[in-house]
Amino acid sequence: VNGKIEIPVVVNVLYRTSAQNISDAQIQSQIDVLNKDFNALNSDYNNVPALFSGVKANVGITFVLDQIIRKSTTKSSWGTNDAMKKTAQGGIAPTSPTTKLNIWTCTIGGGILGYAQFPGGASSTDGVVIDPRYFGLSGTANAPFNLGRTATHEVGHWMNLRHIWGDATCGSDLVADTPTHNEENYGVPAYPHYSTCSGTPVEMTMNYMDYVDDKAMYMFSTGQKNRIAAIFTSGGARASFAQ
Ligand code: ARG
Ligand code: ZN
Ligand code: CA
Repeated sequence: VNGKIEIPVVVNVLYRTSAQNISDAQIQSQIDVLNKDFNALNSDYNNVPALFSGVKANVGITFVLDQIIRKSTTKSSWGTNDAMKKTAQGGIAPTSPTTKLNIWTCTIGGGILGYAQFPGGASSTDGVVIDPRYFGLSGTANAPFNLGRTATHEVGHWMNLRHIWGDATCGSDLVADTPTHNEENYGVPAYPHYSTCSGTPVEMTMNYMDYVDDKAMYMFSTGQKNRIAAIFTSGGARASFAQ
């Protein structure tokens, strides 16, 4: 990304139980993970295999905690229809969504860890949603999703990245330097894991845009970095975030 992009983050906490009213420290730990992962400062960055050392990338975007908004609720699961973003449905409307990244932490249900809105959608629903059981470090965070990588993955979507397998068998993520994956990977894949797609490349299972466990994902690629940079340039869908 050209110049410095610093993104203010508003965290909207919707809690039914006191445990779900996660601490300021847990929230800050998630911001810290985002700063590490988007600046190639994560301690596992050097675990990237030599095969991918030429394409691993420092995205170079900074996140700053702007404010935390808390609201109690009687809802035990919010689903994925954006109800948590609407005051009339008991949620919290986003704060300054054209200049601040809004994150909602609430129970989604259905085994979903988090979901994101891609660039180009309505401001009123813009941002990412993450279940408090998979948010930040310690506190309510549960292994194997307790290293804050659900937010890294969802913010990747919010910055226009697709799943590395392209949501189809041998699909495309519209990024040239990531290999074509058969499908999503889970858990902690053994390396090398070969794709059976054209050319049978070694899959980049350690990419944040796969579905592996938090400890098994630790890189973005240069092509992903460039795709992200494009949306912050003049005329891009998130240009308003790059002052
Ligand atoms: N949207 C994905 C889901 O809900 C998030 C996957 C995050 N993966 C992770 N290792 N934290 O399943
Ligand atoms: Zn995803
Ligand atoms: Ca690709």
